[in-house]
Amino acid sequence: MTPASLAAKGRFPYPPYANGWFRVAYADELARGDVKALHYFGRELVLFRDEEGEAHLLDAFCAHLGAHLGHGGTVEGKGIRCPFHAWHWSGEGVCLDIPYAARIPPKAKIRSWQVRERNGLILAWHHDRDEPPSFEIPVLPEVGSEDWTPYEVRRWTVHSRWLDMNENAVDQIHFRYVHGTHTAPQTEVEVDGHILRCRSRMKMGTPDGEVMGGIDTDDHGPAFQTVRLSGIIDTLMVNTATPIDEDTTDVSFAYTVSKKGGADAHHGAGAAIVRDLEKQMEQDIVIWEHKKYWDKPLLCDGDGKIALYRRWWKQFFSEEAV
Ligand code: FES
Ligand SMILES: [Fe+2]
Repeated sequence: MTPASLAAKGRFPYPPYANGWFRVAYADELARGDVKALHYFGRELVLFRDEEGEAHLLDAFCAHLGAHLGHGGTVEGKGIRCPFHAWHWSGEGVCLDIPYAARIPPKAKIRSWQVRERNGLILAWHHDRDEPPSFEIPVLPEVGSEDWTPYEVRRWTVHSRWLDMNENAVDQIHFRYVHGTHTAPQTEVEVDGHILRCRSRMKMGTPDGEVMGGIDTDDHGPAFQTVRLSGIIDTLMVNTATPIDEDTTDVSFAYTVSKKGGADAHHGAGAAIVRDLEKQMEQDIVIWEHKKYWDKPLLCDGDGKIALYRRWWKQFFSEEAV
């Protein structure tokens, strides 16, 4: 598609689906033998966990006569059996057997997606030209550690695109006017290949007065972000955003809080931080869902690193697309 036809299509002058790792489920939502019908990237998908515990993602429609494997498909060994005529498909989308045929047609193949399971997430690699992963998502030491609380997960369906919403991370001024912070944070932004690091320092209000807090945000590609909050109580947010279709995004934040000091996610300071972050999200959504995306915004000298952020994320689209 040319940029002009993309622009004519709608609200954003860039393609809807970037190249990168995207959460398709939380790991604990998929037990051994489970089959889940999913709809992401404007496509029908089937996610299943085989009998050995490995998660697989395939395009949903059986290559035979088109049954949706997510509705009635059953896990068998390392694969999934179609509910319609019982063709057996591997997690890589190869037909393993057809119970009533002597020969498997050579074209019997279903598109499979690369999957990684880490940090309590099942992630799938999306690339518009089907190229293999060009980077990996790091293992986060806090997740699953005894010193940190289990995830608390929040989820929103937002009528916008994550790369536009996530501009917030470098837009320090909005904290003051949208979220009512006392001052705008001091933010430093650094690009390191597919990683964007933001380091913000700001005054945070507590019942005992103001303390200096830190917000360290790392984006790993277009849809996986860690936010580490320090100052009051150490908190890690693992933020992921998966496009459902061109206009709608499944945004999810998973919070874990350091148990140091006796706080946990349900009590005291940990719960207060999670509540505050949820409130901020609701405040942001109103802006995101109604705003216009200006390809050439009118920036002023106090605006920080918005132009840098936009240059960074262009790498997640194949060249001619942006
Ligand atoms: S449609 Fe799947 S086996 Fe026939
Ligand atoms: Fe915000």
